[in-house]
Amino acid sequence: MEILIKNIKKLLQVESKPRQKVKGKDMAVVPSMSDAWLYIKNDKIADFGKMDTCPELESDYLIEIDATGKLVLPSFCDSHTHIVYAGSREIEYSDKIRGLSYEEIAKRGGGILNSAKLLHQTSEDDLYEQSMQRIHEIISQGTGAVEIKSGYGLNPEDEIKMLRVIKRIKETTPLIVKSTFLGAHAFPSEYKTNKDAYVDVVINEMIPQVAAEDLADYIDVFCDKGFFNVEQTERILMSGIKYGMRPKIHANELAASGGIQAGVKYNALSVDHIEYTDNPEIEALLESETMPTILPGAAFFLNMPWAPARKMIEAGLPVAIASDYNPGSSPTGNMKLMMSFACVNYKMLPQEALNAVTINSAYAMGVSDIVGSIAIGKVANLFITKEIPNLEFLPYAYGSDLIDTIILKGEIL
Ligand code: NIG
Ligand code: FE
Repeated sequence: MEILIKNIKKLLQVESKPRQKVKGKDMAVVPSMSDAWLYIKNDKIADFGKMDTCPELESDYLIEIDATGKLVLPSFCDSHTHIVYAGSREIEYSDKIRGLSYEEIAKRGGGILNSAKLLHQTSEDDLYEQSMQRIHEIISQGTGAVEIKSGYGLNPEDEIKMLRVIKRIKETTPLIVKSTFLGAHAFPSEYKTNKDAYVDVVINEMIPQVAAEDLADYIDVFCDKGFFNVEQTERILMSGIKYGMRPKIHANELAASGGIQAGVKYNALSVDHIEYTDNPEIEALLESETMPTILPGAAFFLNMPWAPARKMIEAGLPVAIASDYNPGSSPTGNMKLMMSFACVNYKMLPQEALNAVTINSAYAMGVSDIVGSIAIGKVANLFITKEIPNLEFLPYAYGSDLIDTIILKGEIL
């Protein structure tokens, strides 16, 4: 198929020299082109330019779209989700409103363990169907690439079940999908008094099986107070690395856990949550290739402190934003809403927020060479907005659906 989009009011996030990520002051800049055209051939962005250079194309396979008054953006990249899960946890929502903390709910056998119980009782097919409903939802909200974690299995069989579902999503949707093994998401209750024994199961049983079936691109650990400590985290990361899985970890959500430094030490692709970030963490990140990733949905939903986004950007760091779509701390994958949270709560400019949910989140899931911006040769994952005045309008109109047309892998959905 070929698509020519004409009269684009503004083509956002265009690159002639593709970048891997954007950091510091550059985060406030979104390269764009007014009055533009964009040509898609097969599944790739083939060319783009100003309307006065628009080609006259003749082809039976060509679809022309008039985008007068509309913006065109690269699809959102959601670099951190737990979108494969069974059931839901709205009951805990009320517990939280009554004043119980995330940790208290987890200690009572709720939280992640509750989802693990539900997942255990759910067949692989059912789990796939339930997850696909959410996948369709995020596609309709503009997401074009998604990272999905295991971590509600917590035993070899159920972790593999989750990862097979992720693989099926990869094979049956037009999304770019990366999968992450998160066996170290919580300690099952039977290991409460012998946590290291569970770490042994993750290392000696789960990781080899996951690797043998080639089910995970990355390895994750919930390195935080009350969950996995730095020593346990390092053991698991070393084992994952041995099997070719680069770390991408949950860190410093509940306390200054040392997780950010552990991530940097093992060359993590990203460290995520990072509410508890201060000068030592920023210094470690400045010396690294690790993408600090903020999850505003979880911080909003759990009423947590906001990660110091401004301080990080002003120190010269890049920042990515992801949804953390999961049943316990962020039951949404709406990346436009994440942009609004980024602006209002983290004081990021709309331009910084857009960089955080496109090129930088693409980097945080290892796909910024193929998506995350409008560049020749990149995968044609993008969307056309309704008629709106400018980029700022996207996070500003935080409750409105502003997407008109979605194109993934060069196909109009
Ligand atoms: O990223 N922080 C750890 N894990 C998830 C929450 C998972 C859950 O509560 O089900 C998160 O917020
Ligand atoms: Fe998470």
